[in-house]
Amino acid sequence: MIKFILNDQDISTDLPTGSTVLDFVRYRQDLKGTKIGCREGDCGACTILVGELIDGEVRYRSMTSCLMPLANASGKHIVTIEGINPTDGSLTPVQQAMVDESGTQCGFCTVGFVMSLTGACIDGSDKISAIDGNICRCTGYKSIERAACRLSEPPWSAGGQIVPEYFSAISQRLERLLAAGIVAETRPPGNVPYVGGGTDLYVQRHDEMAESAAMSLLHNDELRGIRDTGTYIEIGGAATVTDLLESPEMNEIFPELYKHLKLVSSTPIRNMATLAGNFVNASPIGDMTVWFLALDAEIDLWTSPHVSKGITRTLALKELYLGYKQLAKQPDEIITAIRFRKPNGDFRFNFEKVCKRTYLDIASVNTAISLTVRSAPGDTWLPPALSEPGAPTGSLVTYTIESAHVAAGGVSPIPLYLRKTSEFLAGKAVNAETISSANEIMQSEISPISDVRGTEQYKRLLLRQLFAAHFVELFEA
Ligand SMILES: Cc1cc2nc3c(=O)[nH]c(=O)nc-3n(C[C@H](O)[C@H](O)[C@H](O)COP(=O)(O)OP(=O)(O)OC[C@H]3O[C@@H](n4cnc5c(N)ncnc54)[C@H](O)[C@@H]3O)c2cc1C
Ligand code: FES
Ligand code: FES
Repeated sequence: MIKFILNDQDISTDLPTGSTVLDFVRYRQDLKGTKIGCREGDCGACTILVGELIDGEVRYRSMTSCLMPLANASGKHIVTIEGINPTDGSLTPVQQAMVDESGTQCGFCTVGFVMSLTGACIDGSDKISAIDGNICRCTGYKSIERAACRLSEPPWSAGGQIVPEYFSAISQRLERLLAAGIVAETRPPGNVPYVGGGTDLYVQRHDEMAESAAMSLLHNDELRGIRDTGTYIEIGGAATVTDLLESPEMNEIFPELYKHLKLVSSTPIRNMATLAGNFVNASPIGDMTVWFLALDAEIDLWTSPHVSKGITRTLALKELYLGYKQLAKQPDEIITAIRFRKPNGDFRFNFEKVCKRTYLDIASVNTAISLTVRSAPGDTWLPPALSEPGAPTGSLVTYTIESAHVAAGGVSPIPLYLRKTSEFLAGKAVNAETISSANEIMQSEISPISDVRGTEQYKRLLLRQLFAAHFVELFEA
C-alpha cells in the first residue's frame, strides 16, 4: 500500500508501485490539468511539485510525473496544478504573471511552466533556470521569460502567497504519515526492478515498468546524503544531481559545480536523477559517470533484499564497466555509496561536454579531468593549450602534474577511464608538448564509432579539442 498526500487529499493505493504518478493523477483522480506530451521527460508538460519532509520542513522540487513511479511518491506531498489553484477562482501570482505577459497561447505547456515557476517561487531559486525543462511550441519564450522575470521581483521571489493556505499543515501531515512507517525495505519476490529516479528506466522500459512492483531506493536514509568523512567525500547511492549541486561539501571542492551540472539534463530531471542510476544505466555518454571516473571514485555494492543487512564489497568505478551495458555487478546488487578521496594540495577539476544543443541534451562527447599540481617560478607555460610547441611563452609559473585522472564519454562502448593518458600525465610539466603527447596516447585508447551524434573522425577531433580545453580552463591566467 502506498500512502501520500495529493494536493489536500490523503491517498492510499495498492496500484502497482511502478505505475506512474502522471497516470494516477489523470486517470485515477481525474486531475486533467497535468498534461501528457512526450512521456520521456523532455517537454515538461507533466511537471508537478513533490514535497519531501527534510529536517522538519517540506522541500518542494519540480519533477516530471511521466517518469515518476508511485513508489517514489510514498510519504511525499504531490502537488498538481489543481492543488495550487485558489478556491475562489482567482489566479495565483504565477498564473497572473503568465497572463499579464502573454505567456500562453494554446495552453498545453502552460501548466508545466506554472508548476516549475511556482516551485521556484516557493524556494526562492532562479526563475529562468527553473523553466529549463519546459518546452513551449507556440507562444515563444520571450513572453514566458518576462513572466519569470516579473516573479523574480519581490514580493513573489520569496514565496508570498504563491500557494494555498492548506500547505501550512503539510509538514505535520507528512510527519504523521512517515511515523506510521509506510515504506517497506524488503524487495518483493520476482524479477522486480530497483528504481532510483526512474529517468532512464521509464524512458527505456515504460510499459513494463508501469505494471511492475518496482522497488524505490529513494526512501532508504542509508542511501541518501553527502558526507565529509575527513579522508573521503561519501555520497549516498540515491543522491540526486540536485543533491550534489546543493551540497556545501561539493561546492567547496568544485567551485565550478553549478556551471558544470547545469549542462546535465534539466532542473526537473536533475531533481530526480540519481548518481547510481547514471552509473548503472552505463550509457557511454553518462555525464555523472564520466565526472566520477575522473575523480577515480569507488562504489560500495550491497546485496539485496535488506540494505541494512546485506554484504558489501567495494569496487573502483572504472572496474564496473566490462563492455557495452555489461557491468561487473550482480543484478541484485545495489550501489549504496560513492566515494572519492578529498583532494590535497593544488587540486584542479574540469568537465566539458559538447551536444547538438547546449542544454537539455545528451553529449556527443564529454570529458572530465582531475589534476593535482605543484607550481614553481619559471617561464615555460603556454596559456593557450593549442599553441604550437616551441611558440613564445606567456607565464612566469611552471606547473608539474603530480597526479591525473582523465575520463571521456562517447568515444568507446563504455564510459571510459583513460588509464594510459592519466598515467602518462603524472610527473609531466604542463605545457604544449605534454598536451600534444597525451593526446596521441588518448587517441590510441579510444574507439569512437560514427553515429547520429557524429562521425568517428569528428569525435576524435572533439575529444582532442576538449582535452586541450581542460588545460585552457584550468591554467589560463
Ligand atoms: C529528459 C532527460 C534528459 C537527460 N539528460 C541527461 C544528461 O544530460 N546527461 C546524462 O548523463 N543523463 C541524462 N539523462 C539520463 C538520466 O537522467 C540519468 O542517467 C540519471 O542519472 C539516471 O538516474 P535515475 O535515478 O533516474 O535512474 P533509474 O532510471 O531509476 O535507473 C537506471 C538504472 O539504474 C539502476 N539503479 C538505480 N539506482 C540504483 C542503485 N542505487 N544501485 C543499483 N542500481 C541502481 C536501475 O535499476 C536501472 O537499471 C536524461 C534523461 C532524461 C529523461
Ligand atoms: S510528458 Fe513530456 S516531460 Fe512528461
Ligand atoms: S502555449 Fe502552446 S505550447 Fe506553449
